[in-house]
Amino acid sequence: MSDPERLTRKIRAALAPCSLGRWPTPLEPAPALARTIGLDALWLKREDRSAPRCGGNKVRGLELLLAGVPAGSVFVTVGGTGSTHCLATAVHAAALSCRAALAQFPQPETEASRAVAAACDAHAALVVRAPTRAALPLALLGAWRGAGRLGPRRWVPGGGAHPRAVVGHLLAALELAQQLPGPPDAIVAPLGTGGTLAGLLLGVAQLGWPTRVIGVRVAPVLVANRWRTLRLAHRAARLLADHDIRVPDPAARTPLVIADGRGGKGYGHPTPEGESARRLAAEHGLVLDSTYGAKAFAVLLQRGTWNVQRVVFWHTFGVPSPPPEPAR
Ligand SMILES: Cc1ncc(COP(=O)(O)O)c(C=O)c1O
Repeated sequence: MSDPERLTRKIRAALAPCSLGRWPTPLEPAPALARTIGLDALWLKREDRSAPRCGGNKVRGLELLLAGVPAGSVFVTVGGTGSTHCLATAVHAAALSCRAALAQFPQPETEASRAVAAACDAHAALVVRAPTRAALPLALLGAWRGAGRLGPRRWVPGGGAHPRAVVGHLLAALELAQQLPGPPDAIVAPLGTGGTLAGLLLGVAQLGWPTRVIGVRVAPVLVANRWRTLRLAHRAARLLADHDIRVPDPAARTPLVIADGRGGKGYGHPTPEGESARRLAAEHGLVLDSTYGAKAFAVLLQRGTWNVQRVVFWHTFGVPSPPPEPAR
């Protein structure tokens, strides 16, 4: 058994995740796309295919966040109207005979955000939408109170950004190590609330890889920043240490690079660079969303002065299937 495999088993035994996804997610080489964008090698880590019910990067974290909770519990969480975290929480809570109450702030409408919002309506027990961002605390209060009328409540932080969820993304990096012939020069992923990147950083540190972890900021700096990401990684390392599992804290020698993918208008607004990257990716059969994947891919196209030739692109957005009949 390899070290990543052994560590994975140890972590799973210690933290007892529930089973929501299908692992490993595929790692697909994309040689034609690599040639087109001037890379020696490009792999797509298909986190979008993490679960048939509702895929995407959030499933890794939810396996740890929703574990061991009694049936009938109501998970309360928060996000934009197009939040795949909200949707994944609602869908996977239902799979565990639990429910979800969502508080949401408005975000610009795109094809993907509309599809996610419709699916949230179909799968969550309660959706409270704030008319403006400033009104989000009231919506949250409404969702929290409403959830209390439905059953015992559990809070899940926005984006699932919690140390337990970070460990899920560490497992993703260990999984990657078993799929790749050697360390890549870089892993490129969208940076939202930071849990995904934090876990990848822990994984890269644990594997002793020289790989840069490039987070493409798509959310406000207050949420998507280096300090928060490293703090999440640090708290996840401490959580593991409480279970006698030692992983290096990446804060000391971090390969984290943060690039800005937001363009002028901010979270959820498509950017010209992102949309042109999205079209290019689509020509190669890679379907990206405007909020996360397109912006991350645009930064990979530009890559500036980074000397990276062998790259893993973290494909995080699972296209929601058409909503079923309303469950409420
Ligand atoms: C599709 C998608 N990609 C990437 C991210 C960013 O992940 P994180 O919030 O862990 O930084 C999110 C967060 O909501 C997401 O929904």
